Amino acid sequence: MPDLFTPLQLGPLTLPNRLAMAPLTRNRSTPEGVPGPLNVEYYRQRASAGLLISEATCIAPSAIGYPLTPGIWNEAQVAGWRTVTGAVHAAGGRIYCQLWHVGRISHPSLQVDGQLPVAPSALRPTGDAVTYQGMQPYVTPRALETAELPGIVEQFRHAAALALAAGFDGVEVHAANGYLLDEFLRDGSNHRSDAYGGSVDNRARLLLEVLAAVCPVWGADRVGVRLSPLQPFNDMRDSNPQGTFSRVVELLNPFGLAYLHLTEMGKDAPGAAGPYFDPLALRDIWKGVLMTNAGYDRDRANAVLAAGRADLVAFGVPFIANPDLPARYQANAPLNTPDPTTFYGGAERGYTDYPSLEAA
Ligand code: PHB
Repeated sequence: MPDLFTPLQLGPLTLPNRLAMAPLTRNRSTPEGVPGPLNVEYYRQRASAGLLISEATCIAPSAIGYPLTPGIWNEAQVAGWRTVTGAVHAAGGRIYCQLWHVGRISHPSLQVDGQLPVAPSALRPTGDAVTYQGMQPYVTPRALETAELPGIVEQFRHAAALALAAGFDGVEVHAANGYLLDEFLRDGSNHRSDAYGGSVDNRARLLLEVLAAVCPVWGADRVGVRLSPLQPFNDMRDSNPQGTFSRVVELLNPFGLAYLHLTEMGKDAPGAAGPYFDPLALRDIWKGVLMTNAGYDRDRANAVLAAGRADLVAFGVPFIANPDLPARYQANAPLNTPDPTTFYGGAERGYTDYPSLEAA
């Protein structure tokens, strides 16, 4: 029976262990979205993960929804990321780039010329945007015209090509957590009447077109996708999460992707994002490698792997506080205590200064 320390073949990559570092927004890029030396050190410290997934990385200026998040749409960003991937590889690691368009989870002050954020439908999410001027209420987004959707697909393709140039090992298409592609998938945020709204097949169309554009850049076996069927964050819901995501997963199967990454977020608030189901039921539909996430510790991760309900587990908060998380889990050693006040923004403190077991 596999555990966290059983190697895993992920497309052409052999992962030495089954701990992934989850994509984690840390808001420590430059205002231009260029990773720098501090980010290099952070990822380098965590290179013992079976797979690192980068923090969510904006595919275009209009894809930005938070201050100081990195981008992957221009050459300066590619050069910055190349220093990150080079350091990770020199330390023996592997790193995917998570490709992100925030959709309506943005604010005019973060957009070029103060434009409205874009979304499938002009539905304002409840809550506040994080802006350079502090928290400000979300605005009603502008619904994308059908004729604009090829442009969104092209932004993902272009970002995927730049991620390849930047030396990543693959890309994860972010279709979770209430951002643009997830906003199309779920019927709480998609009220369209064109070929991209209505049936699940229609709501999945944009994601499938993005994958059809990204896979030829990388080879499908270096492309992952992240879904969050029960995530209520960002005012998300669906009238039938199990029906919607079962069909989405069926539609994903033919691509032969490197992995499907589920976050089980929302599982502990049954019904907040729609009628409850067990997200790991999707395991029985998905034909490839399954990564799961949200609140796992060593013992629960080993149990889900041993039961064959997942192949890989992504850890978020434990990796923030423990750069050498695999070694700690392997030795059953104590963990550092995470400091939530330094999760989003700041500098070294709470980012690159958590001690390794060796240093401690
Ligand atoms: C966040 O910045 O709060 C954030 C970003 C990406 C996610 C979830 C949360 O998928």
